[in-house]
Amino acid sequence: MAEHYHFGGCDTVALAREFGTPLYVVSEDDVLARIREVKAAFDEKYERAHTHYASKAFLTKDMIRIAKEQDMGLDVVSGGELHGAMALDFPPERIVFHGNNKTPAEIAMGLDYGVGRFVCDSLGEIELIDRLAGERCARPHILIRVTPGVDSHTHAYISTAMADSKFGVPLPQVPEAVARCLGLKNTELVGFHFHVGSQLLKNASHLMAVDILLGVIRDVRERIGFTTREFDLGGGFGVRYTKDDDVRPIGYFVDPMVERIEAFCAEHGLHRPDLAIEPGRWIVCEAGVTLYTVGSIKEIPGIRTYVGVDGGLPDNPRPALYQAAYDAVVANRCDEEATEVVTIAGRCCESSDILIRDLRVPPLAPGDILAVKSTGAYCYSMASNYNKVPVPAVVAVRNGVPRVSVRRQTYEELYERDV
Ligand code: LLP
Repeated sequence: MAEHYHFGGCDTVALAREFGTPLYVVSEDDVLARIREVKAAFDEKYERAHTHYASKAFLTKDMIRIAKEQDMGLDVVSGGELHGAMALDFPPERIVFHGNNKTPAEIAMGLDYGVGRFVCDSLGEIELIDRLAGERCARPHILIRVTPGVDSHTHAYISTAMADSKFGVPLPQVPEAVARCLGLKNTELVGFHFHVGSQLLKNASHLMAVDILLGVIRDVRERIGFTTREFDLGGGFGVRYTKDDDVRPIGYFVDPMVERIEAFCAEHGLHRPDLAIEPGRWIVCEAGVTLYTVGSIKEIPGIRTYVGVDGGLPDNPRPALYQAAYDAVVANRCDEEATEVVTIAGRCCESSDILIRDLRVPPLAPGDILAVKSTGAYCYSMASNYNKVPVPAVVAVRNGVPRVSVRRQTYEELYERDV
C-alpha cells in the first residue's frame, strides 16, 4: 500500500477523509515546542525579556488559550483581535496594542480593558490616546514605533522599516515626539519599538535597527533626560517554506541583539531596558499544513501541466500577493518518486491564483490529496470569501489526536449578514 504523509502524528489522508478539504491542520505540539524554544532562547535566557505572540499570523480561540496558558504576551492590531483576547480573559497587562491607525473606538476599547501598552506610530495618535485616557482617568504605557530607515531585503510588501514607510515615527522626528509625549498628563512614555520586516532569514537588518535605536535611546537621554524602560525588537524571524530557505535558530537573531544592547548600556552607563520580541510566523508557520483534493488536470503540451485543487487564493493569498513559494507532497502516495513537474492552480477566477509553480510530483490523478507545507502563518488569518468560497475548517492535532478548532464556514454563513 502507498505510504501516507503524516503530520503532527496524524495520517493526513485520514484527516482529509474525516474533515473534508480544503483543510487547515495545525499541530499544537509543534506550536508548543516553538514556544518552549523561543522562551528558552529569550525569556529564560535573559533577564526582563518577554515574548509577545503576534496574533495577526494566526488567531483562533485555541491559539489565544495557548498564548494565555504559556504566559506569553499578545500583540494585537485591531479591535477584532483585541475582542478575541477579551472574550477569553487574556490578561490585559500582557497585551500590546499595535496599528498605524487605531480608531478612537479601538483605543477606547483597549483603554477600557486596560491593555498593557500601546505602540504608537505617530504623535497624533499618542495625543488622541492621551485625551481618551484622560476621560477615563487611565494612564496607559506608550511605546513609540520608530522607522529606523533600514532596508530589510524581503518582499517590498512585508518590508516595514525603510524611511518611506507608513509605519512608525520617522527617525528625525523622534526627539520632538519624545519631548511632546513627556508633556502629556494621561500617558506614560516607556520606550521604543521597531519592526524591520517579515520572513527575514538574515539578522543584518535587525542589528542595524538595534544600533540606530540605541543611538536614539542615548540621544533622548542626553538631550531630554528621558530614560528608556522598554525596548521592543519586533518580529520577522524567518521560517522554512521550501528547501531553499536557509533558516537559523531564534538565538541567531536575539543573541547578537541583546549582546549589543547590553554592551551599549554598559558603555554609556544606561540602565538596560526591559526587552520584548514579537514573533508571529516563527511560532506557527511550520506547525501548519493545508490539505487539498486534486480535481481537473490540464496538460498543455510543451508548455505546462496545470493541476487544479479545491482551494487556493481564498485560503492562501500569499503566492498571489507576495510571490510566496511553497512546497507540497502528495499525501496519499508520499513515497512515490517525483517524475513530473506540474503547476498547482487554485480554484478562483483569477490568473494570479497559482499556489505552486513547478512542483515535482509523482503522476497525479483526480482525488489525490495534496499537502502544502508551512501554511500555519498568514493563511487562515488572511483568508477571504472571494468567489463566495467558504473558509476551510481548522483542525488542531495534539498527541496524534485531531479535533475541530474552527469549523468550516457554511454557504448560509456566506450570506448571513446580507439584508
Ligand atoms: N510586530 C509587528 C509590529 C508587525 O508588524 C509584525 C508583522 C510582527 C510583529 C510579526 O511578524 P512575523 O514575526 O510574523 O514576521 N501578511 C504577510 C506578513 C505581514 C507581517 C506584518 N507584520 C505575509 O503573509 O507574509
